[in-house]
Amino acid sequence: VSAVEPYFEAFSVAVVDDDPKLRTRLAMQLGTGVRSASFPSIELLEERFVAGEPLVVIFGPSFSTAAGLHDVERLTRQRPEIGAILVVEELSTQALQQALRAGVKDVLAAPADAGQLTESVTRVAETLNAFPLRSGSAAPAAPEVPAKLGRVITVFSTKGGAGKSVVASNLAVALSRKADGPVVLVDADLQFGDVAVMLKLTPQHTIVEAVSAIDRLDPQLMQSLLIRHEPSGVLVLPAPLEPAFADQVSAANMNKIVSILKTFCAYVVIDTPAHFNEVVLGLLEDSDDIVLIAGMDIPNIKNVKLGLQTLRLLNIPVSKLKLVLNRANSKAKLDVGEVERTLSIKADALIPSDVAVPQSVNKGVPVLIDAPKAGVARSFEQLAELFLIADGQAARR
Ligand SMILES: Nc1ncnc2c1ncn2[C@@H]1O[C@H](COP(=O)(O)OP(=O)(O)OP(=O)(O)O)[C@@H](O)[C@H]1O
Ligand SMILES: [Mg+2]
Repeated sequence: VSAVEPYFEAFSVAVVDDDPKLRTRLAMQLGTGVRSASFPSIELLEERFVAGEPLVVIFGPSFSTAAGLHDVERLTRQRPEIGAILVVEELSTQALQQALRAGVKDVLAAPADAGQLTESVTRVAETLNAFPLRSGSAAPAAPEVPAKLGRVITVFSTKGGAGKSVVASNLAVALSRKADGPVVLVDADLQFGDVAVMLKLTPQHTIVEAVSAIDRLDPQLMQSLLIRHEPSGVLVLPAPLEPAFADQVSAANMNKIVSILKTFCAYVVIDTPAHFNEVVLGLLEDSDDIVLIAGMDIPNIKNVKLGLQTLRLLNIPVSKLKLVLNRANSKAKLDVGEVERTLSIKADALIPSDVAVPQSVNKGVPVLIDAPKAGVARSFEQLAELFLIADGQAARR
């Protein structure tokens, strides 16, 4: 699902590299919907764009040297309104680390395809909105180089029982195997959350403690409230143990918790309740990705249609959306093509129906661990790869 237009009005995109052919190719890949310009050097870029304008800069491979990254770092430090993307010849952990240290927000391997590039630009542009435009010529306060923030993935459905909790927990497990940072699973089904049960955890703390300490909540305190799922390493922030405590968690509380989690986690996966509420709304707005789960029957599809309309009304870009069809092989009357046509969007992942799922739920072991050879386990890995590949974190084959 991709449509990037909503963001392309608010910022410009610049390509910088000393190779003119490469510059042109990158600029062309951005397509016509984008206000883009290309420059052979950072100096020329700085002449053209005044400080304060939100700008996404794509640096070509010539900047992946120590000297090049040094220049990039100087620019990202001085101009926090610039979101930098680096295209490298070869993606390695080392290249990634060095780029991130230089303040680069995303790294892509050359040749980046057009889809990857626009997706990355959109993602980086979203982070720019966080910076208010500076007025006047006052020297900017030296900002710290922002560390790369974790990606927030909210698993959502417009119908109860569609498989949100199963997908959220298995997605978190699959991501944690390959991500280069911790993965946290947040149970935002505040009244009836069952993530802890699905993972056979006995929580000492829940989201309620995080909310009680909300004013002094920092990454360290946050970390101490998480419980580790030993078999996978996934960190979990469980839902309140009593449904009555759900009221204590406001949308603002939840957004603050997520914003702290993403400072030290590579992925924040969020399970949501069956019904729409303020907390869910706040989460959807703050997510990088929304995994929309639909079952393969008419009531589900009807609800997804309504859900898509809601997202549109909320101005949530479709580019954030990943449609996951659960129980995709079920004996229901619908086939995948029919569902896709009805919804006018393509499914990003299909999860087969498998008795191994309820069996694993009953054991309190994610199916990825309980039945790793099952087709359904493989489909969760593929779902995770959609994110890992986009983030350059998947093991290359
Ligand atoms: N692919 C699948 N194959 C077989 N069973 C499945 C599959 N996905 C989910 N289920 C079963 O469906 C039931 C509901 O799944 P789950 O609890 O994940 O849904 P949910 O959307 O979180 O529900 P709720 O809205 O109540 O939170 C579970 O018992 C699970 O075992
Ligand atoms: Mg659930």
